[in-house]
Amino acid sequence: MNSLVGQHVLSVDQFDRDTIKEIFTVADQMRPYAKREKRTSVLNGAILGNLFFEPSTRTRVSFGTAFNLLGGFVRETTGIGSSALAKGESLFDTARVLSGYSDIVAMRHPDSGSVAEFAVGSRVPVINGGDGANEHPTQALLDLYTIEKELAYHGGSLDGMHIAMIGDLKYGRTVHSLSKLLTLFKNIRFTLISPTELGMPTKVLDVIENAGHKFHITDSMEGQFDADICYQTRIQEERFPSKEEANKYRGKFRLNQDIYTRHFQSKTVIMHPLPRDSRADANELDNDLNMNPNLAIFRQTDNGVLVRMALFAMTLGVEHLVAKYEHNVPWYKPTE
Ligand code: CP
Repeated sequence: MNSLVGQHVLSVDQFDRDTIKEIFTVADQMRPYAKREKRTSVLNGAILGNLFFEPSTRTRVSFGTAFNLLGGFVRETTGIGSSALAKGESLFDTARVLSGYSDIVAMRHPDSGSVAEFAVGSRVPVINGGDGANEHPTQALLDLYTIEKELAYHGGSLDGMHIAMIGDLKYGRTVHSLSKLLTLFKNIRFTLISPTELGMPTKVLDVIENAGHKFHITDSMEGQFDADICYQTRIQEERFPSKEEANKYRGKFRLNQDIYTRHFQSKTVIMHPLPRDSRADANELDNDLNMNPNLAIFRQTDNGVLVRMALFAMTLGVEHLVAKYEHNVPWYKPTE
């Protein structure tokens, strides 16, 4: 039995290197199903409660897609306003009720610690799809999976890598979770580029330092970064006291082809958890990078389905049965 059976997935703190390797091996096995070369009905009859109390495109839809690809059914609840939380129901009661209707729950909520609080009342495994500025463990896993694949393509590996994280490192939960996950590997170098006010929280820096890794903090994009990975982030406008406050930081750390060429190696992989803010004044990750082969943002989103399929299969203990419930796919599929 794998170590995730029946477990909640709430924080990257619960993972070690062996578990990550196991998840990534299962994720690799999910590729033919995610690409619709084959299908499986291993979770036929199982129900995912997909609870998103904060806006989401890729996390919500890829959780649902991953569950569907394993043959399961998805029941969506979106927005606090459309649930009884708006009438003052507690997370504990909501969890007690909804876990009676589902085999597993994926959940996003605007408050830090809320998904863990929900999990206390849940009778089924709960997967954290992002809790406030705190954590986004499945994003960190898919980011790590992508980094491993991208580095392998360039002949590198996770151990000894150098990552530059750029932008809103204070409120960006993906960089918190990814940083902590990376500390499980050897000799990671972090370059943390942000306005001083939006720097990486001390509690994350402590985890990096205590694990023996090196970090360099700067509020400037000047100079040359020999980073393997450039991880750009969005200003998390929704977590600022006001939109005007968030506007102060827009465009400060823009990445376009020219800036990329000046500051990074020609092989540096460009990542972003998305959504990128494509409004004219955002100046975040420009469209002129779209055809750059090192832009991995849509490989990240594709990999998210594989990793989430692996997590569902493992928490529900069916990863070894996926191929047994396999079927052919008769419908038209475009070639890539
Ligand atoms: N990366 C991410 O969490 O995207 P969504 O907000 O669209 O889910």
